[in-house]
Amino acid sequence: MGNSVVVIGMQWGDEGKGCIVDYLAEKTNAVVRFQGGHNAGHTIVIGEEKTVLHLIPSGILQEDVKCYIGSGVVVSPKALLSEIGQLKEKGFDIKDNLAVSTNCPLVLSSHVLLDKAREKLLGRSSIGTTGRGIGPAYEDKVARRAIRINDLFDRGNLESKLSSLLDLHNFLLKKYYNSEVADFSLELDSCLSFFDKISSNIKDVPQELRKLELSGSKILYEGAQGSMLDIDFGTYPYVTSSNTTAGSASTGSGIGPKYFSYVLGIAKAYTTRVGSGPFPTELNDHTGSYLARVGAEFGATTGRPRRCGWLDAVLLKRAIFANSVTGICLTKLDVLDGLDEIKICTGYEYERKVIDNLPLSADQFDKCEPFYESVKGWKEKTAGIKDYDLLPDLAKQYINRIEEITGTRVDMISTGPGRDEVIIRKNPFNN
Ligand code: GDP
Ligand code: IMO
Ligand code: MG
Repeated sequence: MGNSVVVIGMQWGDEGKGCIVDYLAEKTNAVVRFQGGHNAGHTIVIGEEKTVLHLIPSGILQEDVKCYIGSGVVVSPKALLSEIGQLKEKGFDIKDNLAVSTNCPLVLSSHVLLDKAREKLLGRSSIGTTGRGIGPAYEDKVARRAIRINDLFDRGNLESKLSSLLDLHNFLLKKYYNSEVADFSLELDSCLSFFDKISSNIKDVPQELRKLELSGSKILYEGAQGSMLDIDFGTYPYVTSSNTTAGSASTGSGIGPKYFSYVLGIAKAYTTRVGSGPFPTELNDHTGSYLARVGAEFGATTGRPRRCGWLDAVLLKRAIFANSVTGICLTKLDVLDGLDEIKICTGYEYERKVIDNLPLSADQFDKCEPFYESVKGWKEKTAGIKDYDLLPDLAKQYINRIEEITGTRVDMISTGPGRDEVIIRKNPFNN
């Protein structure tokens, strides 16, 4: 069967996916993004140099790794050009290392205005979006009126589609949201100059992936956000507007699921969330602030502080099933160094009943009181350890307990933000 690994987040995003994809990409031929947009923020640390990627796959910093943006991704022309520019300044020239699918819908300035206007109107019940226009762009895709990259090849066609789309957006912005509107000629110029700079990178991505798959190449499919932010599976309406779970690696890239040989579920050793919505194990106390400080938990896209809490194994069990996780990669283990006690949520009390599963409505989820199992913390440092045997016994016990509760192997562990601060117990490509 295939030789491709799907990497997805098992919580509410920011699990450290970028860091792990960059690490695994060294020994692969290609990395593919299949959903989301520049709402994602994937941090890669090489020596002293930190790079945050939003749209470009996290394989771009490795030599000879081809990066693909599949049609499930919504592409902001401005964000993509600015990211390419920033990489160039750092000495990474993307040249033909990047291929963008002809079918990607575009994120326009009017989508950003709509996103912000909606959040403003929602007031206290706002979703806490990244304000990047992602939701409105997906709405237009589903409504079959999006401008897709393909549309840029024919200027006349682009002008007429853009004009009718902006008419609709500006009507809504002005009459319904009482907000500023988008300018047609600025938007057209932005699309045309994007096309001018990127046209040689526009490709039939499914066809290219097919060739790679058939030649036995190793491919990484890189998820953005996390399972609990999935539009269907997550804590709706406090979710993003795409499917973030593993099935989307197939639909968002144009490759059938039989090619995927392994699904790597990335889970932080504790839990974080940015934006609004239920979070049963959230800690609004000094332990929560401690995790935020030691884990440097600030959004890589918006800089917002991330909410922090204990590991939620109920949520992990659900994510394992929803994604067919083969093995877990437990990240940021080092952040727990020195704690006396560590807790794992193993169930909830909901309306006076004990449940070990998730209710899916956000309102129900909000009423869940977590039950914890307590494990003893370790005093030694795990930071930077690359060999499993060198981990403190109590850290190994924490990992074992996660494996027992979830019934799933922890195949990788990360102990620092650096490129190779990773323990591999089983390589996902040798499954
Ligand atoms: P992503 O969105 O899943 O790619 O994750 P982000 O990059 O948004 O957030 C993860 C943050 O944790 C980044 O600042 C990483 O540099 C950092 N990080 C990743 N793995 C580790 C780790 O094992 N230990 C520590 N201390 N930091 C890590
Ligand atoms: P990565 O890939 C964490 C959250 C937002 C908000 C909700 C909807 O770095 O893990 P959107 O702008 O997508 O409409 O916002 O989703 N969100 C993320 N949270 N990590 C991300 O990406 C996120 N992308 C979106 O905070 O709650
Ligand atoms: Mg992130």
